[in-house]
Amino acid sequence: MSPTATAPAKAKAAKTTSVTIPQPAPAKNGQRILPPFVMVIFGASGDLTNRKLVPALFGLQHEGAMPADYSIIGFARRPKSDQEFRQEMKEGLDKFSRLRPVSDTDWKNFTPKLSYHQGNFDDPAAYQALKKTLDELRKTRGLTQHIFYLATAPDYFATVVQQLAAAGLVGHHIPGRVVVEKPFGHDYASAKTLVTDLQACLDESNLFRIDHYLGKETVQNLLYFRFANSIWEPIWNSNLIDNIQITVAEKEGVGTRGAFYDGVGAMRDMVQNHMMQLLSITAMEPPANLSSESIRDEKVKVLRSIPTPKAEIIPASTVRAQYDGYRQTDRVAPDSSTETYAALKLQIDNWRWSGVPFYLRTGKALSSRASEIVVVFRRPPAALFRAEFGDLLHRNAMHIRLQPDEGVHLCFNAKQPGRSSVQPVDMEFCYSTEFGSYSPEAYERLLGDAIFGDSTLFTRADEVLEAWRIVDSIRDGWKNSPMAKYSTGSWGPAESDRMLQADGNNWVDLDARAKA
Ligand code: BG6
Repeated sequence: MSPTATAPAKAKAAKTTSVTIPQPAPAKNGQRILPPFVMVIFGASGDLTNRKLVPALFGLQHEGAMPADYSIIGFARRPKSDQEFRQEMKEGLDKFSRLRPVSDTDWKNFTPKLSYHQGNFDDPAAYQALKKTLDELRKTRGLTQHIFYLATAPDYFATVVQQLAAAGLVGHHIPGRVVVEKPFGHDYASAKTLVTDLQACLDESNLFRIDHYLGKETVQNLLYFRFANSIWEPIWNSNLIDNIQITVAEKEGVGTRGAFYDGVGAMRDMVQNHMMQLLSITAMEPPANLSSESIRDEKVKVLRSIPTPKAEIIPASTVRAQYDGYRQTDRVAPDSSTETYAALKLQIDNWRWSGVPFYLRTGKALSSRASEIVVVFRRPPAALFRAEFGDLLHRNAMHIRLQPDEGVHLCFNAKQPGRSSVQPVDMEFCYSTEFGSYSPEAYERLLGDAIFGDSTLFTRADEVLEAWRIVDSIRDGWKNSPMAKYSTGSWGPAESDRMLQADGNNWVDLDARAKA
């Protein structure tokens, strides 16, 4: 590989080892400027690299967040020149960048930072060669901070980290950071082994486990929404809240990802990570401060307060389902028993939430793409309006919409003008109206944080293990329970509706918020 040096002439001419670090231009949109770095992406030929990672790094460059010098090295098995790698990344940007069409100036600034390193993940010689390249970058361009991004199949996580450690690129007293993609293990036992294997090679503080939901602006806003306002906290508990519903619905089916998805299913693909994170942030206590450890301490306490679901409650408190036609998907087993939909009811057994059900649902091929947290408040006393409306006044509900149309809506009852009737109405805060359309991709934020060394938005080992504890016990219970079916384009199986109806509740209609 041949990283293109862009250090200024002055630095090149110097005979000493001191390096002149070029000064970056000011960043746009209030972005911080990142320190100089080298990011090595393992699995650089994969989908994630050109769909998400390189577009995110390109986005950071466009926003002016990048330092004046940095280097991105793609590491993969296939032989490829730097030029071929750059061309592939350009094609990815043309398809997936939020900044399409890619401007010539942006590309001209970005392309020299990209280079390619061919190597097998288990070949020590490939890591020695990588070390040589990194040493060279340190000497010639002053790039000392290394970030190793593992966009590989999870089976390689331990191998790559062990090889990096053997080459002296990461270690307990070495500042190299490792970023790992999900899934982190496929159950509690494998995740635990992985925790042990990785922690043997580097400190937890240098390990960044990605959950891209934590990089979404609206998910981060949950913390601000809850803890930068005084009006919600007094009502954010079982005194006034009846139930909380968390939905992550996808309109797309499994599509071309059959081979991956059929071995995973909705529970492990979405619930163990993204949904457990949403649940923890919604339910956590105020942290002592905004440090990554304080925030993650509070999140993990929520998960610890969820009792392991016992086999006997699983049929009534969980639903697994598959959409019609899933088994005909390319590279899906014709008799597949993988769930494409999961719904569950969890209890958080602590002072704040005792008795409040948390309903979670996620699925593919549903009616629409909608990720939303709905806080449903207790029904108002009907006394004054009973004669006209019976006992069932609409319940107030707060919708925290994560995507699309990010925003917060509060549904409450109002008098219809000119009539003596009550109608639920919607008070609305919309992100794009308030702040304009600029919204960085989740990966921009997360890669920036990893480069910066801020692990707040990454999951800690104990959080991952607690989530597996809950998910494993439900999946064990599912071994003896039937698979429900649902039609594509619906809101999921009838069994899911029945699960809530058994508690006197309903899934809030996300297509018609005001009818909560
Ligand atoms: C990924 C899952 O983690 O998240 C995918 O593996 C899923 O199956 C995706 O489609 C959803 O992410 P987003 O950001 O589109 O909601």
